[in-house]
Amino acid sequence: MIFYFSATGNSQWVAQYLSKAFNEPTCSVTDLLHVQAPDEISYLIQNQSEMLFFVFPVHSWGPAIVMRRFIRQLQLSGWRENRVFAVCTCGDDCGYTDRIVRKDLADKGITLEAFFSVKMPNNYILMRGFGIDSESVQEEKLALAPHVMEQIVHTIQKQSNSDSFILRAGMSWLKTYVVYPAFRCFVVGKQAFRATDTCISCGLCARICPTGTIVMEKGKPHWKGKDCVQCTACIHRCPVRAIEYGCVSTNKGRYVHPILNDKKSYQI
Ligand SMILES: Cc1cc2nc3c(=O)[nH]c(=O)nc-3n(C[C@H](O)[C@H](O)[C@H](O)COP(=O)(O)O)c2cc1C
Ligand code: SF4
Ligand code: SF4
Repeated sequence: MIFYFSATGNSQWVAQYLSKAFNEPTCSVTDLLHVQAPDEISYLIQNQSEMLFFVFPVHSWGPAIVMRRFIRQLQLSGWRENRVFAVCTCGDDCGYTDRIVRKDLADKGITLEAFFSVKMPNNYILMRGFGIDSESVQEEKLALAPHVMEQIVHTIQKQSNSDSFILRAGMSWLKTYVVYPAFRCFVVGKQAFRATDTCISCGLCARICPTGTIVMEKGKPHWKGKDCVQCTACIHRCPVRAIEYGCVSTNKGRYVHPILNDKKSYQI
C-alpha cells in the first residue's frame, strides 16, 4: 500500500510511479481523512510480501504535518517485518526529514527500511521572498524526476539502500530541529487566505483541503478554525486563481504538477 499526501500533485506523481513499479495500490491521506474519523483510521496488511510506502512533501525541513498526524493515527495490524519506505518530495533540501519520519514510525513499532527524496518544483509562496520556480527550472526538475524514480525503484529492488538520495543542503540540524518546530508553533494555524470576486463557487478548495479548514457558505469559501497547515493546495489549485494570501501572493505564480491538469506526457 502506498499512503500519500500531496497538495499540488508532486508527491501524488511519485506515489503513482511507485504504484506502477511495485504493483501496490495508492491511498490518498486527504481522501481518507474526509471519510473516516481520525480515531478510526486502521489498515490491515494483507500478506508478508506487501510493501508499505509513505509519500509526502517536505514542509519547512520536516515532514508535512498531515502525514505526521496520519502516521500517529494509523492503527496498523498484520505487520510482520514487511518492507517499509518513505519518499519525500521537496524543492531542494529536506534537512533531517528522514530522521523525524524514522522516529515517528519507530514510535508505532514500524521499522523504516529506507528513505528517499525527490527534487520537484517548489510550491511555497506564502511568505515574502518565496515564489514558485521559473518555468525552465520547473521543466528541468520534472524532466529529471523520472530518472531519479527509476534509480529509487532499482535501489529498492536490489535492497542496496543508501543515504545518497537524501537532499541535504547544510545546517540541517538548525533547519529541522529549530526552524521546523517554530513553523509548527507560529505559522501553522494562522492563515490569511481570502477568495476574490473571481471565485466561481466550484467548491474544489473545500474538497481538497486536508484539514477541513475551508467551509462553503452561501457559495463562497471561508477559512475557519486554527487547523490550516499551510500546505498551499487551495491557493494553487483554484481553477480561476481566485485565492490570495493577504497581499503576499498577489503577484506570484501558481503551480500544479501536470498530472493534475491531465497532461498526458507526464502520465506514468
Ligand atoms: C509550507 C511549505 C514548506 C516548504 N518547505 C520546504 C523545505 O523546507 N524544503 C524544500 O526543499 N521544499 C519545501 N517546500 C516545497 C515542497 O516541499 C515541494 O514543492 C513539494 O514537492 C510539494 O509537494 P506536493 O505537490 O506533493 O504538495 C515547502 C512547501 C510548503 C507548502
Ligand atoms: S476553488 Fe476557487 S473558484 Fe472554486 S470555490 Fe474555491 S475559491 Fe472559488
Ligand atoms: S486551508 Fe490550509 S490546510 Fe487547507 S488547503 Fe488551504 S493551505 Fe492547505
